[in-house]
Amino acid sequence: MNEPRHGGAEPDVAASPLIRMRDIRKVYDTGKIQVEALRDVALDVASGEFLAVVGPSGSGKSTLMNLIGCLDTPTAGSYELRGESVAGMNRAQLAEIRNRRIGFVFQSFNLIPQISTYENVEMPLLFGRVARRRRRERVEEVLARVGLADRMEHKPTELSGGQMQRAAIARALAMRPDILLADEPTGNLDSTSGGDIMDLFAQLWEQGHTMIVITHDTALSRRTSRRIELHDGRITSDLRNGA
Ligand SMILES: Nc1ncnc2c1ncn2[C@@H]1O[C@H](COP(=O)(O)OP(=O)(O)O)[C@@H](O)[C@H]1O
Ligand SMILES: [Mg+2]
Repeated sequence: MNEPRHGGAEPDVAASPLIRMRDIRKVYDTGKIQVEALRDVALDVASGEFLAVVGPSGSGKSTLMNLIGCLDTPTAGSYELRGESVAGMNRAQLAEIRNRRIGFVFQSFNLIPQISTYENVEMPLLFGRVARRRRRERVEEVLARVGLADRMEHKPTELSGGQMQRAAIARALAMRPDILLADEPTGNLDSTSGGDIMDLFAQLWEQGHTMIVITHDTALSRRTSRRIELHDGRITSDLRNGA
């Protein structure tokens, strides 16, 4: 998948959506108390969309992201990814889906500090059992795309914050996922490197990637094709930008 589309193509409404969620509910049971983190959530995301998820702290953004990314499963409701029902999958199947279909980017980068940038980006390709030669091609390609071709042998600790996030984005792209998911990707960056990361996201979207970004950053959420807002676990607004 991920045939390049240009100019942030309009989603094809006729085709079945990449993501289809219905009546999603997520309850965290901590023993004494139950937290209803998501309720009545219905969401369709088409291929080629750039979706911002906004809302106050505790409104359920990360919970929604974890469900979309198959890091967790809903308490109730249905979730289809590319027409495939995720709810009934076991751990091994979910791990496979995560590796092949989802690229994750986190606020704290989550790079492995002891190994090189190259090896960090290669990691999902190793898990995906991609052949050695193909791995090298992929790692070099994605590092070039994020502007880190000359930093491959550096360890994460030898990179700036913005460069670390670029390395994490390269790692997320390595398996050519259907969706790039980012939870507060500019949250640990100064405004200049945060702006650079936003530019990179906009560029990836123009190249045809489907992207979902949780952000407090209004400058970023204005640049997406669509914006949903969460309050107390519900989607309270769903707006398409521009056009
Ligand atoms: N693992 C967990 N166990 C219990 N409660 C949780 C857990 N994760 C999140 N929550 C609760 O669920 C609600 C939504 O959290 P979260 O999805 O992290 O919100 P956001 O990302 O918008 O800040 C909050 O009330 C939070 O305290
Ligand atoms: Mg969060």
